[in-house]
Amino acid sequence: MNSTTNGGKDAAKSVAKDAAPIPLIRKPAAGTSAGPPGSASKTACIRTFGCQMNVHDSDRMRRMIRDAGYAEVQSYEEADLVILNTCYVRENAVDRVRGHLGELNRLKREGRVKKIALTGCIGAASEAQQLEKQYGIDLVLGTHNTYELAEFVGLPGMEETYTPELPGTEGEHSAFVTIMTGCNYKCSYCVVPSVRGRMVCRPTENVVEEVRRLVGSGTRYVTLLGQTVDAWRAPDGSGKRFCDLLERVADEAPRVWFTTSHPSNMEDRTLRLIGEKDTIVGRLHLPVQSGSDRMLKVMHRGYKSERYRRKIEVFRESVPDGTLSTDIIVGHPGETERDHEETLRLVEDCSFDSAYVFKFSPRRGTEAAALSAEPEGAVPEDVAQRRFVEVLRAVEQNAFRRNRRKIGLVEEIYVRHGRSGGPNEESLGKAVGETWSGHAVHVRTGAGAGRYVTAKIEEAGPHVLYAGETLGPPS
Ligand code: 5AD
Ligand code: SF4
Repeated sequence: MNSTTNGGKDAAKSVAKDAAPIPLIRKPAAGTSAGPPGSASKTACIRTFGCQMNVHDSDRMRRMIRDAGYAEVQSYEEADLVILNTCYVRENAVDRVRGHLGELNRLKREGRVKKIALTGCIGAASEAQQLEKQYGIDLVLGTHNTYELAEFVGLPGMEETYTPELPGTEGEHSAFVTIMTGCNYKCSYCVVPSVRGRMVCRPTENVVEEVRRLVGSGTRYVTLLGQTVDAWRAPDGSGKRFCDLLERVADEAPRVWFTTSHPSNMEDRTLRLIGEKDTIVGRLHLPVQSGSDRMLKVMHRGYKSERYRRKIEVFRESVPDGTLSTDIIVGHPGETERDHEETLRLVEDCSFDSAYVFKFSPRRGTEAAALSAEPEGAVPEDVAQRRFVEVLRAVEQNAFRRNRRKIGLVEEIYVRHGRSGGPNEESLGKAVGETWSGHAVHVRTGAGAGRYVTAKIEEAGPHVLYAGETLGPPS
């Protein structure tokens, strides 16, 4: 861990100690949840920014506040306690959080919000100290000490109970299961290693047990999570790798996906397993970042574009109808027109089904931020913007072409966001589902989340498919 992390964590700790717990009128026993909204005397609102890891951390915090007798509300105005669980990965993420903090600070001065907590990756960064003063934040927590929120809301001694392994979403139709935290890479542009620390992997049995428990309580879709999920190794020294764990989980859960992977860790046998196991969704998210070997080296990604292309070949062979997504950064310091063209070539060759394209954002303390501060180091904004649009267009054209190939096929669709309570004018056409090939589909059904429906794909856009009437009842 570098000095940024230590600074951030120490800051977080000292604030947590000084913060007085919010007194509770009625404190339920740990492990029980608060009564229905309205019966609780306190209210809390959690806003989540960023990746699935943060969504999962928010689930854990949600459990703590419920156990502490808080009712969860959706708007700041109704909340006694507001928790912003934040992302630090790009500057615009921080700008968004600043906007929310400004509003919260005003509501607090008007007496409408009582306490503000800042958690997640900004909480772990040294910038948190300045934000804390500027916006009157009551509690700052990093990513390693989220459990301290329990103490803050009046639940003593929760360190053992609210471990990072605690599932937040038992009983829900889909659940995240964190199998590793942190990252051992040092990509030039990335702030994650300094805010999330080095890799820590969970033991196999621990993960499998959690999956069993979730499935037993009704979970139908398990997503394995980690910053570099495929870097997972059994901590018992048995030599077991991610593929072995994925296979165990795929034997337990009816539907499985995983994110985010790193090309250097991705084994061919994992790619083959995706095609072989009918419980694994045929969707691979494999960030490439650039198509230029020169840039991949500057970025310290640890692979060349050739390796990436080979991996994609294996994936396409193993899962012919599968979906492939990636992350691409344009405008990293030193990126030339030629590097950019190589990225466009890779986009063409890999025919991504979707991509998250980012303009480089200098993050304090990273190697790339120092490079961008050098004379001639930064790529001019107008150049970065043009490259951004060019990559985005290339991805969309490919995706649109591939999506159109699905038209006319009958697909089994897992409803991710639906409306239970039966079909009616409102809910019909509003469900968003996912095929086994990992395509997002809009489907007209009243089936609730977690159910399967079958329908024919009638239309396709660059980002989503549209299904017609469902065939038969949901399962
Ligand atoms: N600037 C732009 N994009 C970034 N990412 C990470 N750090 C930066 C940065 N400083 C992108 C990478 C990563 C994704 C989560 O965010 O593409 O894969
Ligand atoms: Fe960041 Fe991913 Fe690189 Fe780790 S592997 S430093 S999380 S971009």
